[in-house]
Amino acid sequence: METVVSGIRPTGFLHLGNYFGALRNFIKMQDEANCFFFIADYHSLTTHPKGSELNTHIKNVLIDYLAAGLDPDKSTLYVQSDLPETAELYLLLNMLAYLGELERCVSFKEKVRKHPDNVNAGLLTYPVLQAADILIHNADKVPVGKDQLQHLEMARDFAQRFNHIYETEYFKLPVAYNFGNELIKIPGLDGSTKMSKSDNEASCVYLSDAPETIRKKVMKAVSDSGPTEPHQEKPQAIENLFQLMQAVSTSETLQFFEEQYNTCQIRYGDMKKQLAEDIIAFTTPIYEKILELRSNDTYLRSVAQKGAEKAHESASKTVRQVREIIGVRSI
Ligand code: TRP
Repeated sequence: METVVSGIRPTGFLHLGNYFGALRNFIKMQDEANCFFFIADYHSLTTHPKGSELNTHIKNVLIDYLAAGLDPDKSTLYVQSDLPETAELYLLLNMLAYLGELERCVSFKEKVRKHPDNVNAGLLTYPVLQAADILIHNADKVPVGKDQLQHLEMARDFAQRFNHIYETEYFKLPVAYNFGNELIKIPGLDGSTKMSKSDNEASCVYLSDAPETIRKKVMKAVSDSGPTEPHQEKPQAIENLFQLMQAVSTSETLQFFEEQYNTCQIRYGDMKKQLAEDIIAFTTPIYEKILELRSNDTYLRSVAQKGAEKAHESASKTVRQVREIIGVRSI
């Protein structure tokens, strides 16, 4: 069976973009592969150094994971910092990572631009830690969005370099994975092309938003005064509403509003109302589970603990073998 590894950074609640971009794929894969899904709290520390806030986010992401359908009996769900083996592999991989390639990484350059006062070494070696996450379970596939492709390529490079230097075929070369053309892009409600909480909170619909909140957010979504000619090309903000509809509504609904648009009869108020209701119909089962899980700390703790134990089994084996291959002394 193939091994699948992926993680999400706990910087807040998960939104529809996280769901359709990542989570939905995770859920599908749990029946087909040996899956490890974790919460990448060490990665968050590179930009958010305070643990107190992080702990709330970790709990919320675990809740979102479970409520959306990740099953701790099928997959291994754990918190990155519960697996010290990752830190050891990270250290060893750091010896194989060159300063030049780390400095050239797009996400590093972006973070340097955004936080010029906190260019720490953890930020520089972020891709090495990510490679350690993946290689610690010797993954075949890594379901991630497009923005992670460079990190994935680097993980492959480190794995290949390790194999080359130590004359082994130990590490598999992990590939990024998604379900091909089923990938739906989730835009923001603010006219931006990507739902992203770091760009704009109000542009996001969270899985944990109450129905009333979703209604308010969607009704406030950016639109315009409507098309003036039949079959007019859609401006980005309007295209976004249609894309969201494509994700959550029936094809009949989508077709109805397409026709209204193409014949210049569309009323965006009506479209948004329908969109809000369809989003709510989609999120309600998840939302209800979230409310239930929030008050069940004992269960959440047991999930994290069981996940850490299962992850430890796989990770300790890798670290032992990697130390052996490198020739690290072990007396
Ligand atoms: N860097 C990823 C992100 O920001 C999160 C992540 C950390 C990850 N480690 C990983 C994703 C390992 C896949 C595999 O989304």
